[in-house]
Amino acid sequence: MSVKIAPSILSADFARLGEGVAAAEAAGAEWIHVDCMDGHFVPNLTIGPPVVKALRRVTELPLDVHLMIERPDALLEAFADAGADILTVHQEATVHLHRTLQRIRDLGMKAGVSINPGTPVAALDEVLPYVDLVLIMSVNPGFGGQRFIPTSTGKVAAVRQALDARGIGGVELEVDGGIAPDTAPEVVAAGATVVVAGAAVFGGSGDVAANLAALRAAVGR
Ligand code: DX5
Ligand code: ZN
Repeated sequence: MSVKIAPSILSADFARLGEGVAAAEAAGAEWIHVDCMDGHFVPNLTIGPPVVKALRRVTELPLDVHLMIERPDALLEAFADAGADILTVHQEATVHLHRTLQRIRDLGMKAGVSINPGTPVAALDEVLPYVDLVLIMSVNPGFGGQRFIPTSTGKVAAVRQALDARGIGGVELEVDGGIAPDTAPEVVAAGATVVVAGAAVFGGSGDVAANLAALRAAVGR
């Protein structure tokens, strides 16, 4: 299976987001990863539906929206209206997770569920049949540019095994945090189908095309 790269605009220049997205798209990115933070679930504040709506106008790529917010239910419809294609909520932030995931699908989006580094894969057991995507956080969410937590790779392998055992291997398995040419190969080998990268795409030299090419070469497909 080919691996998708989802640049995270968290590390792009927020004053020139459209240009950052265009550069990522021109360089061959498959998805655009949008990090929404509320200052409660994570210690940082970023963006919400109005920015997703603005991004919708400048790209045809799927908008992969990662909600790091408490009580996401109140905003699901706003994100759908804004044009999110995939909406991922955190298991830790969602009391009625099963209901929330169904609602996301009912609104016409793909439903994703994410777990933090401290949350075991088993916490996802009951909802796997109701998701289109599982997102394994490989840093504690809130900021770009952090170091990959090595135990994440084993969690990716465990989710891959759980999905395949249930006959739902087509569910996307995404990894987010500290992904770069040195860490991407191991998560892909463990079964990831989507890698998110912020600093590794928009940071460094700032040459998005060269950064994306290095990541593509590292994942090897
Ligand atoms: C972190 C976000 C990530 C972040 C990844 O809370 O969910 O998507 O942008 O950034 P890097 O790739 O720099 O670790
Ligand atoms: Zn993210």
